[in-house]
Amino acid sequence: MLAEIEIDHVSQMGHGVGYDAAGNIYFVEGAIPGDTVEISFSEHGKRYRDAELLSLKKPSPERVPPVCPHFQVCGGCDWLQWEYRAQLDAKEKMLMHLLERNDIRFRNKLPIAEAPSRLEYRNRIQLHCQGDKIGFNRRRSHEIVEIEYCHLAHPKLNQALRELREKRPGFSLEPRFELLLNEKGTVEVVRQTEAESFLQVNTAQNERLRLLVAEIVRSDGGKNILELYCGDGNLTFAYRPPEGRIIAIDASSAAIEKARKRDNGTGASVDFRQMRIDGALRRRLPAGYRDGYDTLILDPPRAGADLASFVHNKLMHIIYVSCSPGTFVRDVRSLKKEFAFETLQAVDMFPHTRHIEFVSYLKRLL
Ligand SMILES: C[S@@+](CC[C@H](N)C(=O)[O-])C[C@H]1O[C@@H](n2cnc3c(N)ncnc32)[C@H](O)[C@@H]1O
Repeated sequence: MLAEIEIDHVSQMGHGVGYDAAGNIYFVEGAIPGDTVEISFSEHGKRYRDAELLSLKKPSPERVPPVCPHFQVCGGCDWLQWEYRAQLDAKEKMLMHLLERNDIRFRNKLPIAEAPSRLEYRNRIQLHCQGDKIGFNRRRSHEIVEIEYCHLAHPKLNQALRELREKRPGFSLEPRFELLLNEKGTVEVVRQTEAESFLQVNTAQNERLRLLVAEIVRSDGGKNILELYCGDGNLTFAYRPPEGRIIAIDASSAAIEKARKRDNGTGASVDFRQMRIDGALRRRLPAGYRDGYDTLILDPPRAGADLASFVHNKLMHIIYVSCSPGTFVRDVRSLKKEFAFETLQAVDMFPHTRHIEFVSYLKRLL
């Protein structure tokens, strides 16, 4: 079936969304708001339909030429064809729409922190290797696309990729590996198994994130802090107050080992623990602490966290860093009667992709 529609907004998957006169809803990969597109679809009878973009009848005024010839073949970028400012607005709108639909209103909503570098911002890339080919996965496929230059990756990573290609064949590589630009500014080849500790991909925006969390801790005066999903202490060493006690937990032994090594002993004592976080964890914390921490900081993966099981009467402050608006809403919805939703700010960690990251601050209602 064919149709012509105008794209109204983008979905959480980054696809253009438009309607036909009968009110059917179409999801069109590659389309952006303001485009008029000819589409084909097969899901006749359903109200929500995935459709293929056949041709651009009238391009959106927000369209820009994509810098990469592999755009829409490679699975890396969602929005290289879209003006950066419009991408930011779309991310904010998506987040606010979801919060409002769930009756979650923040008192102080700060504008999204835009990325200083929209290109070449990634400090690590995941690559695939098959025979002599090294590259990224094709969209919705395990086939490899060999890319000359990835415009989202730091130039040093691109140079390392070029050098690896020149060394092939005769240079042994894992089927999946990472190129990582480390703190010293040199590139490491990391096997997938070794890359088990999480690292923020955008160094400049990670600094914004760290500052934001640190500012909230400084102004709210929290001293006894429980931090969940601490990784290698990325946030811990930014917010660590001059005195008090922190218990910081993560499941990754590699990350906890790194965190312990980073600890220079100044400020509040930090007890890094390697533990799996679940609804039963609080009972396993030291007596006195499990009902005594005044601040909870969490930065879970997309799956979110069983936040309610960490709330007790003396908990005054919650700082929740999220990369998934949907699970965030699920996790905080039940706290509306006990906590004021104080501050919200998104930080654009991943320009040209649909991904969003944000920091939220909830304060106990007195
Ligand atoms: C989004 S990362 C955040 C890491 C850190 N806060 C940072 O800024 O780099 C999520 C972290 O959750 C950890 N994690 C995932 N599932 C977990 C679980 N069930 N229990 C404990 N940690 C978990 C991962 O090891 C990872 O370090």
